[in-house]
Amino acid sequence: MSRIDDASGDEVSRGDAERAASLDGAFRRVFAAEPAGVWAAPGRVNLIGEHTDYNDGFVMPFALPQSTYVAARRRADGQVRVHSLFAEETVEFAVDALRPGAVDGWAGYVAGMIWSLRTAADVGLPLEGPGGAPVLGGVDLLIDSTVPHGAGLSSSAALECSVGLAVAELHGVSAEPLTLARLAQRAENDFVGMPCGLMDQMISMLGEPARAVLFDTRSLTPRPVSVGDPAEVEVLVVDTRAPHRLVDGEYAARRSQCEQAAAQLGVASLRALSDLDEPAEELLASLDDELLRRRARHVITENRRVLETVDLLAAGDVAAAGERMTASHRSLREDYEVTVPETDVAVDALLDSGVHGARITGGGFGGCVVALAPAGMLARARSAVRDRYAAAGFGEPEVFAASPSAGARRVA
Ligand code: GLA
Repeated sequence: MSRIDDASGDEVSRGDAERAASLDGAFRRVFAAEPAGVWAAPGRVNLIGEHTDYNDGFVMPFALPQSTYVAARRRADGQVRVHSLFAEETVEFAVDALRPGAVDGWAGYVAGMIWSLRTAADVGLPLEGPGGAPVLGGVDLLIDSTVPHGAGLSSSAALECSVGLAVAELHGVSAEPLTLARLAQRAENDFVGMPCGLMDQMISMLGEPARAVLFDTRSLTPRPVSVGDPAEVEVLVVDTRAPHRLVDGEYAARRSQCEQAAAQLGVASLRALSDLDEPAEELLASLDDELLRRRARHVITENRRVLETVDLLAAGDVAAAGERMTASHRSLREDYEVTVPETDVAVDALLDSGVHGARITGGGFGGCVVALAPAGMLARARSAVRDRYAAAGFGEPEVFAASPSAGARRVA
């Protein structure tokens, strides 16, 4: 898989066309047939609102230029053959035999998405094809991706959403982006077994060029938000390349701690408390368990920071918006305990180099750091982080500028 390059909107369209052409050629070589089309869905970076989506809260991600691409065609025999250029592997399975957990590894996300589409009616999200409910059959899929794998930039959501869009459109189904996002989340929750929230799939489907998107994950309403004039502000991302540690088990543990806290406080979700005016400490005073109190405090204060950030960006106060991001990092480090030394060192180095604010982004335990910075300081930030990493004995990080880009789309 290729590493990240800096990419603007124009470069994304050019990149789409080039990828589509190269995937078309590779498809012919692998499957000795012509693809019916090529689809793409992006990875994401989350500006603020971390570990809030499974608490009915607010998130503010944007779609990256880096995407997963799928060339596809239908098959008549009910088989799925999927070849990944990044895994250099072909996996085959019968659509009828799909059950949760039946396929694992990278192909589990593909199989899970197809299973989720086929059984969409079971969860009240029925799909409509040209002649009523579609019968989703076999497909050949060729996959490539520019989303760094395992870096916390949602390569799995990009895979689910690109496959979901391709398979739906191949069968004449024009599902709402939000429906596909929910089916992709279900693939991950119920087929792969990762209890994620909806943020990653939602932004992969609904991302917009030049805008971050504020999502209320309770009402499921998206609201585009400008991050500022690109001549003045830019978003930098540090891929720490720190290995993910214990991510699945720890993520599930955080989620269940939030549910326990909400149950003990007598609310449906911690979001209900974020909406009140009282300070978090007062709202949490009746919670005896100190650990649960810290976890819940993160969620309540984080939801408030998201809304403050939206207001501050609208008022053009990027410095104060950046402070909210840095406060989010502190909260994730101290109350939520999902940061690692590599992310903390990157945040400190970025702040010292002059960014407005910086924080870990994504599920945590490794992955990436995101910063809001004055435009034009990529080179300075990059050398600041690299120097600090070298001094700490960490591996070399990747530092790049990211601009909000389009969500899932057909590219050929
Ligand atoms: C992962 C999950 C998301 C979200 C983030 C943390 O990326 O997939 O649903 O919970 O972690 O904000």
